[in-house]
Amino acid sequence: MRVGAVYTPAVPELLPPDALLLAPMVAVSHRALRELILDFGGLDLAFTEMASAAAVVSASPYEEWYLDAEPEPAKTCIQFYTVKPERLVDALKYIKDKAVFGADINFGCSAPAIRQAGGGVAWMQDPAAAADLVRLARATWPRVLSAKLRLGESEDYGALKAFCEGLVEAGLDFLTLHPRLASERFRRKGRWDHVGRLARDLKVPVVGNGDILRVRDWEEKRREAAPAGFMLGRGAVMRPWIFALIKGRQASPDFSLEIDLEATAHRFLDLVATRLPPDFHLTRARRFFSYYSSNFSFAHHLQWKLDKAPSLSAMRAILADYFAEVPGDRTRVEAD
Ligand SMILES: Cc1cc2nc3c(=O)[nH]c(=O)nc-3n(C[C@H](O)[C@H](O)[C@H](O)COP(=O)(O)O)c2cc1C
Repeated sequence: MRVGAVYTPAVPELLPPDALLLAPMVAVSHRALRELILDFGGLDLAFTEMASAAAVVSASPYEEWYLDAEPEPAKTCIQFYTVKPERLVDALKYIKDKAVFGADINFGCSAPAIRQAGGGVAWMQDPAAAADLVRLARATWPRVLSAKLRLGESEDYGALKAFCEGLVEAGLDFLTLHPRLASERFRRKGRWDHVGRLARDLKVPVVGNGDILRVRDWEEKRREAAPAGFMLGRGAVMRPWIFALIKGRQASPDFSLEIDLEATAHRFLDLVATRLPPDFHLTRARRFFSYYSSNFSFAHHLQWKLDKAPSLSAMRAILADYFAEVPGDRTRVEAD
């Protein structure tokens, strides 16, 4: 290679090294949050909240909003959950003209309604059917195809590996593991050793997800599991700048960011008002503040008030009162 020339690998890497991803989260990973995070920087790939493949096909009124991949479709994966394989095929055909990075299949959702219907994590009980679903999707969808899953019903690494190998064999490009059992909630810590083993054993990139709320969690998981990438959910809503902070810390151990917490809250409300349909405004803003309020000295009090607010402008007034009373909460230097 000529000195100074830009090196381009023959096969471009699917994900950059130590890729940082935003998790799919219902009522949270919408365009407004993605835009807020992208403005801070550091994010390599964002997932949309899961959309129902069947609802897309039946043209339910809100589907266009769930499928909105702006402002950076090339950095966005649309996630679907499905019960019937044909519905996923139809949904993938429906989005074929969107210039998105990829489409993701949800094999991890453990919400009772979805699981009982046979969607989400229920697929993990039938590895052959899950592999067939990926094969069908692969035949339909020309761009990146990924899946997000949990450990399954019981802790059995051999079964997990066989399940994932079946998906890879069927044409999956990468996968994300949230290493909790189907029945486990956030109280139980994720088992990142499974992320590490899977990352070593599979021939496609494995992304690890779960419990990265601070830079130090990311450092710990990176040491422990060294996956291809890291997906953050709750940590990204609490600190939308966390991706920028992680990237900055990678470049320099002394890196820190001065965050204007008040301006960030208002910027988020602006984005909600301008990017989401009116019916979504209050629910999405409340959901965001249920995480973001954790940044403040009187977190519960503020969150309680915001949760009762009847409009976005009432939320703005509550925030203004709060910062007038607690001016020390307006800005903060973040290093971790
Ligand atoms: C409010 C909320 C909604 C979620 N919705 C989805 C979803 O639509 N699809 C999905 O695969 N996982 C969903 N999850 C799971 C997250 O993507 C992620 O796996 C989980 O929160 C663990 O990551 P974290 O510890 O970084 O938050 C959701 C989680 C939360 C908290």
